[in-house]
Parts: sequence; C-alpha cells; structure tokens
Amino acid sequence: MLHKKLKPFPEGFFWGASTSAYQVEGAWDEDGKGPSIIDMGSVVPGTTDFKVASDHYHHYQEDVKLFSELGLKAYRFSIAWTRIFPNGDGEVNPKGIEFYSNLIDELKAHNIEPIVTMYHFDLPYALQEKGGWSNRATVDAFVTYSKTLFEAFGDRVKYWLTINEQNMMILHGDAIGTLHVAAENPMKDLYQQNHHMLLAQAKAMVACHEMLPQAKIGPAPNIAAVYPETSKPEDILAASNCTAIRNWLYLDMAVYGRYNNIAWAFLEERDATPDIQEGDMEIMASAKPDFIAFNYYSSQTVAASSGDASDRSSIDGDQQIVIGEAGVYKGATNPNLSKNAFGWEIDPTGFRNTMREIYDRYALPLIVTENGLGAFDKVEDDGSVNDDYRIDFLQKHIDQIRLGISDGVDIFGFCPWSAIDLISTHQGCSKRYGFIHVDREEFDLKELKRSKKKSFHWYNELISRNGN
Ligand code: BG6
Repeated sequence: MLHKKLKPFPEGFFWGASTSAYQVEGAWDEDGKGPSIIDMGSVVPGTTDFKVASDHYHHYQEDVKLFSELGLKAYRFSIAWTRIFPNGDGEVNPKGIEFYSNLIDELKAHNIEPIVTMYHFDLPYALQEKGGWSNRATVDAFVTYSKTLFEAFGDRVKYWLTINEQNMMILHGDAIGTLHVAAENPMKDLYQQNHHMLLAQAKAMVACHEMLPQAKIGPAPNIAAVYPETSKPEDILAASNCTAIRNWLYLDMAVYGRYNNIAWAFLEERDATPDIQEGDMEIMASAKPDFIAFNYYSSQTVAASSGDASDRSSIDGDQQIVIGEAGVYKGATNPNLSKNAFGWEIDPTGFRNTMREIYDRYALPLIVTENGLGAFDKVEDDGSVNDDYRIDFLQKHIDQIRLGISDGVDIFGFCPWSAIDLISTHQGCSKRYGFIHVDREEFDLKELKRSKKKSFHWYNELISRNGN
C-alpha cells in the first residue's frame, strides 16, 4: 500500500536497544553465579567463550551512561537465571539480586525504561542435569524464578518478556548453544520441552498479572514472514506449513492458549505430540499477554517439499542452520534479496510484512526486541568505526516501521540488537552488532574500552527527532 501521508512515530515511542546477559555480562562465575548450559556448552572452534564477554557486569555504570548519551528511552536486557538461583531453584543469591537492582536503578536514574527478559537461552546447568526442559519440574523452577523477579524488581520494572526466541531454541537448538536432545524419540522430547516452556510462560504471565497489576508481560519469539519460492500452489502451501510450525505454534499458544492446528498435525504425523497433563490447557487459556515482542532479522523463503530427506537442506551459508522439514517444506533462497557478510538475507520490506501479519492475527501492541546487522567492523587509525552499512540497514528497517504504523499496526518500541558490542550466539565477538564498540578481539581482551561508532551518533540524532 502506498501512503500519501505517513503517520508519525507516536509520542513516547520506546527507542531502545537490546542485549542478553550471557552475551554481554561476563563475570560468569562471580558473586555466587552458578553455571548455565552456555557456560558448560562447547564453544565453536575459533571463537571466544562467554566468560568475560563485554564485561558489562563490571562496566554497567559506564555503559548505562553511554546508553543515556545515545538517547535510549528503553533498554532491553536479560537476567541470568543462575545469578538469581545458582542451581536453578533452591536458595536465592542476594548478590545476583543486588546486581540487577543496581542496574535497574542506574537505568531509572537516566530515564531509561528497563525491559526485562527473564530467560534468554541460558538455562541453569543444574536444571539441565536433571533433564532440563524435558523435566516438568523445570516449569516450577521457572515459575519460582519469575515470581522472585517480580517481587525483587516489580516496583521498578513495568515491561517483562518471558522467554527469548523459544521457537529458535526448538528449531535450531544446536546452533544457539542449547544442548543436544538425547532421547529415543528426539522430536517428541523436543516438543515436550516446548510444551513445558509454553506452560512455564503461561504460569509466569498469570503470576505477573496477579502480583503486579500495573505491569505488562509478553512472549518474545523470532518471527519472520515466510515467502513461497514461486506462485505455485504447492509452494504456497509449504509457506503456510512453515509459518505455522515456525511462527504461529508459539504465538497462538501464548495469545489464544491453543495449539495451532497445522503445527499439531505436523507433530501427530511425527509421533511427536507432547503429553499434556490435566489442567495444562486451562492454564494456557487463562494466560493473556499484554503485548507481543518479536525479534526480526530476515524473512524466510521455502518451497514445496520433495517428500524426502533433501527437504532438510542447509541453506543458511555461514550459519549452517538447517531449514526445512522432510515432507513439509524445503528451504529456499530468495533471489530478490541481498545478503550480509554472514550470509543472512536482508529484507526490510519483510519486516513490514511480518509486523502486519502479527498484528492482523493477534491485534495486540507490538514491540521489536531485536533487529540488526552483524558485521566485521573496522577500527580506523583515529579510533573511529564508520559503520555506514549498519546505519543503512537500520534506517531501512525503521522506514518500514513507519510504513507499518501508517498501515495501522500498533507498535510501541524498537530495540535493535545490540546496544553495545557483545558475543554472538555462535559466531564469536568479531561479528559485531553494537552502537558502542568494545575494544576486544576473539582471544585478546585488550582493555575492553568503549567507544562510539558512527551509528551511535546517527541513532542519537534519529531518536532526538522521534524518528520522524
Ligand atoms: C537472536 C538472539 O537470535 O539473534 C540473540 O536472540 C543473537 O541472542 C541474535 O545474538 C543474533 O544472532 P547471532 O547468531 O549473530 O548472535
């Protein structure tokens, strides 16, 4: 749709930026923190581990000051479950509460709204050893953990995100550092884990509303518009399959409290439906999110299934991520899109498509909790980083939000990835995303000095005119 006149970004729009605990904090075993599955997981050869990361744990005051200079209205970060409960459940670690309490105070003092993700990939290792999400007890541990967060920080935190990219943990667990599923029927086990996470999320949303009537809470999946490779009806059907399994399975449950029928049929076909206990679906139905947070990096293109194993083709270049489900859909590349240095397709228009689809389906306010460009930044002799490619990427995506707003989508914030350089999920620290450069290399920590990239000044100026 071409608009003669674009609607402006609303007053009070949350111009923000995002990080996650294990990718930015470091201090992996300090002040009583327990190990997470990330700390105990294998690191991709040639890339750094997460022990020091950007050392935000020791630099948080300096970092928040920089976020304030950047002009951020909101900062989306995650809490490391193992700082609060070193063993996943049991005793609370007061030092963990203290760290996040200080961070939240610091943000508030700078008029930056904290947006808190409760769980971003870093399951406590102690829980993993007891079966992780395959074990229903992990649901209770998550609920206790979430209630502890509401109690400790609910007086200052209004916006809560339950689980980051649950769909990616289920679809691509290997690539993002979650541990392998060892079970007789791995797929059934995987979707049992998924059911437990959905239940944990539902219970946390109910608890949040009971304990903090003023607070708002929502899920934070990675959602992408899925295109058919051609206009062949079979390709369109494949795109519909993929959309259901990749996107709507997660959001239909979070919003409507029901399993998406296409995704459910897919699980039945694979003998992978989860065991649902009495009362589970009532809980799912009673939990109502206040908004939908979503991460968007790219759209996805698929083609009709060939009906055999060739459907599971690794199409994502450097990422080596397998796209496709035998007999359901096959991954395809989109010849209309360019790619970033890591082989990820760049699709700003797909961003508009995605937000329109989500809003059309659920009619809940939206917030973008990740979007950004991973790149090999170059530091010039004078110390500057001229990341025009990042500015270009972000500007094009912000333009699409404005178009989405003009289409009538209710969207209240944009938190690109990432506020500051951090460690990529599985591609090290040379793959940078931040507005703030952190002076470290893969295996040389240097001084971890912070400096402002060109994109920092650009984003600051854009925020100062509310993006309009
Ligand atoms: C999202 C995650 O999937 O993508 C982040 O929520 C992650 O944790 C981001 O860092 C970018 O992916 P990557 O693999 O480049 O770090």
